[in-house]
Amino acid sequence: MADLERTGRSWLTDAVIYGIYPQSFQDSNGDGIGDLRGVIDRLDYIVSLGVDAIWFNPCFVSPFHDAGYDVADYLRIAPRYGTNDDLVELVEKAGQRGIRILLDLVVGHTSIEHEWFRTELAADGPHPEGDRYIWRTDEPERGWESDLPGTPQWVRSPGPRQGWYLKNFYDEQPALNFGWVRTDPAQPWRDPVDGPGPKRNRQALKEILDFWLSKGVAGFRVDMAFSLVKDEGLRDGVLASAAIWQELREWLDDAYPDAVLIPEGEEPRTGARLAFDADFMLVIYAPHASLFDNHSAGRLPWHEPRPAFFDAAGEGSTELFLDTWAHLREVDPQRSILLATADHDFTRLRSGRAPEELGAALTFLFTWGSVPSLYYGDEIGMRYLPDLPNVEGAICSPLYNRAGCRTPMQWDDGPNAGFSAAPADSLYLPIDPDPDRPTVAAQDGVPGSTLTLVRELLALRRRTPALQGQAPTTVVNPGYPFAWLRGEDHLVVVNPRREPATLETDQAEGMEVLFGSGCDVTGDRIELDGFGYGILGRSR
Ligand code: GLC
Ligand code: CA
Repeated sequence: MADLERTGRSWLTDAVIYGIYPQSFQDSNGDGIGDLRGVIDRLDYIVSLGVDAIWFNPCFVSPFHDAGYDVADYLRIAPRYGTNDDLVELVEKAGQRGIRILLDLVVGHTSIEHEWFRTELAADGPHPEGDRYIWRTDEPERGWESDLPGTPQWVRSPGPRQGWYLKNFYDEQPALNFGWVRTDPAQPWRDPVDGPGPKRNRQALKEILDFWLSKGVAGFRVDMAFSLVKDEGLRDGVLASAAIWQELREWLDDAYPDAVLIPEGEEPRTGARLAFDADFMLVIYAPHASLFDNHSAGRLPWHEPRPAFFDAAGEGSTELFLDTWAHLREVDPQRSILLATADHDFTRLRSGRAPEELGAALTFLFTWGSVPSLYYGDEIGMRYLPDLPNVEGAICSPLYNRAGCRTPMQWDDGPNAGFSAAPADSLYLPIDPDPDRPTVAAQDGVPGSTLTLVRELLALRRRTPALQGQAPTTVVNPGYPFAWLRGEDHLVVVNPRREPATLETDQAEGMEVLFGSGCDVTGDRIELDGFGYGILGRSR
């Protein structure tokens, strides 16, 4: 039943992605941590959801100061997840079931335990062929760098090498040297982008891509893709970083024309051909205005609190989201845009929501003209768990704890919810202690369950091209109820608030509800209960 016949990068445009945090999906050997064998064992379940690809958070060798976003060896699967051969087996077995594998490429920085960093740390001065990291010998004054978590700062070298190195996120994540937009003889650490160190790193990047793509991996989600090149003006750094990806894309076009690259964030529009195959709408930067409150995990200092549109109170607006969407589609109306239910950095879809609110949210996420990414566990409505311990760098500021969206998958009523045979206190993170926690087993085949809803929505999407990534999406009503046309003949209406909502639109004439709940249509009038949703089509 191999069915990867859609070749070329075009497969992504109509795809649905499943996000797996490898630590927490399925532990096959009882050590309390998820692994690749566990994923292989669960492939039939993943297929049953109706997804096309899996995106794994980083699964490479790492000391896990930042959950694997601190890579110590780009070319080796972390032993706790298995071996490179296990990954190849997963790629093959998933491929036989029509599922592609995307890895996470954390290329802006390494771990302090990467051999490259150890070598430069042990040296008494710059590497003769150019430093891979950014070192300075004079005491840094506060300037361009800042105290915000997730932004570059100088860290005093623990030695033997004297001086300071630039880090990207945690101190254990030294920034790789991809050069600077502005050079300055008084600041010799500012290598130009085509300096020897940056050149070595670009070459290494190509080798890493080549290594995994040659093993059948379909592509990468690229961590912090647009902050490789440093600059005090954010925009210029972004543009210079984007240029690195354009150069790589040219090579990929020859070497791996099917390979897909998805950035963390949005690719800048410069008029040049875009290097990535999609934009990833996140909420971490202000312009990525989610319709959901993905921030109950916490806020970073630059987050502006605003009421979410998908909220029972019904006080939100779609404006910022729609503006951002329009901007991303401006240059290329076919551009794929990824919208995730959640991810390893953001609160789960379920957070702050009763299960009955999920129907409207999932209907939006799976029928908007995007590439949806379903974060493991969101298909059963797993909760974000507050106040968990700081496991593997999950807490990145006093206000921001990511552990709660990284807890083990809840499979069944067995020990540890079927996630692991380990003693409960040696699990990677605790399991939701709620006796009524949702599980796959309790929802499987049950009409009206969140899992059934996800499967039905994805099946409908699969057999209805107008509901997939490429058909036009035209907003009919931006408020409550939110309504949009897909193609010419499908109207989707969702009411994320508790209060009922009504819409009169000519578009509804001659349409009937193909799929929905709490949604009635009579002539040009659509009535929705609180949290109601409907996918309308032309009656034959
Ligand atoms: C990205 C990742 C996040 C990580 C950070 C530093 O934002 O999504 O989890 O902590 O990069 O690598
Ligand atoms: Ca394990």
